[in-house]
Amino acid sequence: MELKKYLQKVIYTVVPVLLFTLITTVANANDTTTVVSKESSFKGNLLIILFSIFIVVELIIIGYLIFSPSTSNEVDSVTGKPKRRRTLWERFNNLKSMEEESSIELEHDYDGIKELDNAAPPWFTIGFTLSIIFAFIYMYRYHVVHSAPLQIEEYTIAVKKAKEEKAALDKLKPPKVIDENNLVLLSPAEIAKGKEIFIKNCATCHANDGGGGAGPNLTDNYWMHGGSLKDIFISVKVGYPQKGMPGWGEILGLEQVEQVTSYIKTLKGTKPAIPKEQQGELYKEN
Ligand code: HEC
Repeated sequence: MELKKYLQKVIYTVVPVLLFTLITTVANANDTTTVVSKESSFKGNLLIILFSIFIVVELIIIGYLIFSPSTSNEVDSVTGKPKRRRTLWERFNNLKSMEEESSIELEHDYDGIKELDNAAPPWFTIGFTLSIIFAFIYMYRYHVVHSAPLQIEEYTIAVKKAKEEKAALDKLKPPKVIDENNLVLLSPAEIAKGKEIFIKNCATCHANDGGGGAGPNLTDNYWMHGGSLKDIFISVKVGYPQKGMPGWGEILGLEQVEQVTSYIKTLKGTKPAIPKEQQGELYKEN
């Protein structure tokens, strides 16, 4: 073969294959970066192995296409020239070459149009047979002996497993720690509990509606010790014993202190019956 032709052939076959390989590798790489558990990293490895096998097969086919001679050793009895070899495509599909087509021509002539009795391609026959065999195995396994779960069962199994894993994880989590650094305004249900605590423990000095009495008004914007969630929490937890405000942390527990703190936050701007005069500084929410 001429060198130029040879090189042309190499470029025409190798370049598209390399491009294809590159594209699929990138796609595959994206896939494997999302790998999280051991199980899926095994899947990632399997993909790479399959992919490598795929490339090797590709290379073998390329090699065959480049190096196989285009003529066979047989000599055509009529022309005396070496016969053309059947192409890979013709072999793959079990096609007769043009010269041999007359042997499979059907007898019927449709106004000059003739029909060829081509055999079904071997890949089709094999695939068809395999799919029938597969269908029987599938039926037997999934619907007769039930040795593997159906999709819907697979789903329920997966959900159950996830629930168990979550329960195990929840057990590992440390119980909620309440302190002034992780406060949030609680839910309405918790705030309702806070109100009960307030009426029971605080109303004697701050009035039922928070308007104040022996203790200061908790509904206005003026605070002696700060009006943020954190400030109020600390005021309630530690108290100001020498000024007549007990520390409630020990008495109520921090969970209740947090609840009553959230409740006090909701008192802002309400109109108490007998509001006590402003004490402390104007607090601005930041
Ligand atoms: C025995 C009376 C008394 C009781 C009961 C009481 N307090 Fe007080 N409280 C006070 C006094 C007095 C002050 C003012 C302290 C000061 O002058 O520093 C105060 C201050 C406060 C402050 C700070 C207000 C500010 O302006 O910074 C908050 C918040 C507070 N109380 C919440 C509560 C809560 C919640 C309860 C119930 C769990 C409660 N108090 C029960 C007397 C009381």
